[in-house]
Amino acid sequence: MRALITGVNGFVGIYLSEYLIKNGIEVWGTKLPHTSMPHQISSKIIVRDMDIINKENIFEIIKECMPDYIFHLAAQSSVALSWENPQLTININVNGTLNLLDAVRKSNKNIRILLIGSSEEYGIVKSEIISIDEDYPLNPTNPYAVSKMVQEYFALQYINAYKMDIIMVRAFNHIGPGQAPTFVVPDFAKKIAQIEKGLIEPVLFVGNLEAERDFTDVRDIVRAYFDIITAGKSGQVYNVGSNKTYKISYILDLLLSMSNKKIIVKSDPSKMRPLDVPVIRCDNKKLVKLTSWSPQYKIEDTIKDVLNYWRINI
Ligand code: GDD
Repeated sequence: MRALITGVNGFVGIYLSEYLIKNGIEVWGTKLPHTSMPHQISSKIIVRDMDIINKENIFEIIKECMPDYIFHLAAQSSVALSWENPQLTININVNGTLNLLDAVRKSNKNIRILLIGSSEEYGIVKSEIISIDEDYPLNPTNPYAVSKMVQEYFALQYINAYKMDIIMVRAFNHIGPGQAPTFVVPDFAKKIAQIEKGLIEPVLFVGNLEAERDFTDVRDIVRAYFDIITAGKSGQVYNVGSNKTYKISYILDLLLSMSNKKIIVKSDPSKMRPLDVPVIRCDNKKLVKLTSWSPQYKIEDTIKDVLNYWRINI
C-alpha cells in the first residue's frame, strides 16, 4: 500500500510517516517549497515540494504517486492565527482542500482520502452536554473552525456528486514533542526551558487558563488516523480524542511542577482570544466501536516529553 501525506514535515506528518513506515506502508509526502525534512525520516520517504494553493502542482504529484490513501494534513491549524488572518486560513484550509479534491477527482476517484477537521467545529455547546458526539450540530465560533466546517461540507458534496471515497475526522487537541510554540503546551514548555537556561526573565505570560480541552498525545492520534483510513466507512465523520479534559491551568501547574525554577505567571491580554470555547470534550464511542482504539500515553508523560524536548532544542 502507498500513502501520500500532504504537509509531511509538519508536527503530525512526521509522527504519521514514522507510524506508517513501521506498518509496512510506502510513504510519499509533500512539503512547502523551502522547508526542510527532519533527518531521521527523510531517507525513508519520497518527498515532493508542493503548495496546496497551487492546483496544477497537486495534480501532477497525485498522478506521479498514485497512492491508495491520502492523509490531508497540510493546513493552517492555529485558532489564534485564524483570528489575525482569516483570509489566509480560508485560503489554505478551504481552497487548498478543494484543489486536492479536484485533483483526485480528475486523476483517480478510488483514492481514499482522510480529511482532518477539528473539534472546534462544534463550538460552544449546551452546558448539559458532557461530551460531544459526531451528531451534535456544528456551531463554529472562530475563522479556523469555520474553515474546517466548510472543508467538511465540500467533502460531502464530492462524496455525493462524484462518489469519491472520503472519510472525515474531527480531531480534538493533540500535543507532543516537536509541536510549534504557537500552541499552548509547547508555548509554556519552551518558555520554562528558556527560563531554566537563564535566557529570559522568570516570567511566564499566559492567556485564558480557564478553558478546558481534550488533550491526546500525537502518537495516539496518528494510530487513530491509520485505523480510520483502513477500517472507516466512506462518507463518515469520526471524532478523535480521549474523552478526558484538563483545564489549561492544570496543564500549567503540571509543567511548573516539573521545573525547579521559581516562575511568576502573568496574564497577557494579547493572548486572550475574542471568543474562546470554554469546554471541549470528545465522545469517541464511534471510533472505539470501529477499531477499539484507546490512548496509550498518560498526560503527565506527554507533558514531560514536551518539556524535555524544549530543554534539548532551545
Ligand atoms: N496558544 C496559546 N497560548 N493558548 C493559550 C495560552 C497561550 O499562552 N494561554 C491559554 N491558552 C488557551 C487558548 O485560549 C485555548 O483555550 C487553549 O489554551 C488551547 O489553545 P491552543 O493550544 O492554541 O489550541 P486550540 O485549542 O486553539 O486549537 C488546537 O486544537 C484544535 C482541536 O480542538 C489546534 O491543534 C487545532 O488545530 C485543533 O483543531
